[in-house]
Amino acid sequence: MVWQRVEVPLERAEGQGPGGILMNKDALAPELMAFAGQVQCVYMDPPFFTGGRMTFRMRVGEDGWRDGTPSIDFVAYDDFSGVHRDEYLAFLRELIERAHVLLGPTGSFFLHLDDRMAAHARLICDEVFGISQFRNSIIWSYQTGGRSKRYFSRKHDTILFYARSRDHFFDITQVPTKLKRDRGNHLKREVDEKGRAFRSIVSNGKRYIYYDDEPDYPDDVWTDVSQMQQKDPQRTGYATQKPQALTDRIILCSTRPNDLVADILCGSGTALVSAAVNGRRFLGADDSPHAFSVSRKRLAEFAVESHAPLSRVQAMVDASLLPGIGYYSVGLNAYTLAEPPEGTPELSGLDAVDQWYAGLIQEHVFTVYASSVRKKGTPALAPRLEIPMLRGTVALMVIDVYGNRTLWAGAGV
Ligand SMILES: C[S@@+](CC[C@H](N)C(=O)[O-])C[C@H]1O[C@@H](n2cnc3c(N)ncnc32)[C@H](O)[C@@H]1O
Repeated sequence: MVWQRVEVPLERAEGQGPGGILMNKDALAPELMAFAGQVQCVYMDPPFFTGGRMTFRMRVGEDGWRDGTPSIDFVAYDDFSGVHRDEYLAFLRELIERAHVLLGPTGSFFLHLDDRMAAHARLICDEVFGISQFRNSIIWSYQTGGRSKRYFSRKHDTILFYARSRDHFFDITQVPTKLKRDRGNHLKREVDEKGRAFRSIVSNGKRYIYYDDEPDYPDDVWTDVSQMQQKDPQRTGYATQKPQALTDRIILCSTRPNDLVADILCGSGTALVSAAVNGRRFLGADDSPHAFSVSRKRLAEFAVESHAPLSRVQAMVDASLLPGIGYYSVGLNAYTLAEPPEGTPELSGLDAVDQWYAGLIQEHVFTVYASSVRKKGTPALAPRLEIPMLRGTVALMVIDVYGNRTLWAGAGV
């Protein structure tokens, strides 16, 4: 059967959770303004102004996903190399203004930076949100990375937390910590009439009581969220990926189920995954095609609407279609990219495929009913996917290891 390249503006996937939107677009794109005033939490982890080029290591084929090689390194994004600081700060100001516009009155803003730009950002946030809306400068402390002998090793990021208004929602009871903070021996140890052990202290005439069996909550120095280790199963190969435990904490204390969480520089999609897993809606954007493809893959089991340009590259698919009783079985045998990017290997069979989706095109929308993505633990792609026999044109979408996204419609269905 002949499969023809087609273009539709929207991809909609059925799946778990209340759903979300993923865009391969600039964070300042006008389309995002459609969500003004609707977002409950904006988490923003922009480039830190390192001046470097951040990589994305894409594992290739079954071997790559099983053993780590082969893989291809791409530049995921350029972190303002050769750009003057003023230009970066102008961009940061626009981002902060955009976060302010997106948030609803009870919303919260978390801006993740490091020591390079955190002080500048604090002043901009004070201007945009108002000094009185400052809540915390969270120190996320970790032990990974190199050590310096010329100054104290820099082992923390700063997450600035601002409220959109004084009515903002915040529920610390949603984020109890596992580790009991050491309350020290200077507190008096006692047992109440019901036999519950507690420690107490009197300060400025007020008595503070801490029961041993009560949960503890984080303060503004987070030492209990570790950076991802080399072998961490969460690792996607996206250089600046943050651990999900970090975004879980941010989202759980600042939103309720079904609320909308936005990360418009989503990178590998960590905050979007946190939102989806915790029953929140999400709005994600990133202008890097690699960020889009990693995020899309991490969200493969969730309900998601994707807005991303289809690639114009020359490619071929060898696919098949078998009708069953009430369903179609779509098979993908091979995909070939005519001209792989310079310095990358030519790949045959399904090696160049990182993820594929099957569904139906109905009224300019590609609705996904089944997907197969390579990941650790399941390095092989499913050769066939089943979709319901409904009205529409059977189609399949391939996202290849180079970040190209192509849509193919089965002719004569
Ligand atoms: C530090 S990374 C985000 C990492 C992410 N938090 C994660 O866990 O993977 C910053 C992201 O900002 C994106 N970015 C930079 N400029 C952008 C812009 N103007 N619009 C959208 N995304 C942008 C980069 O492509 C990069 O993915």
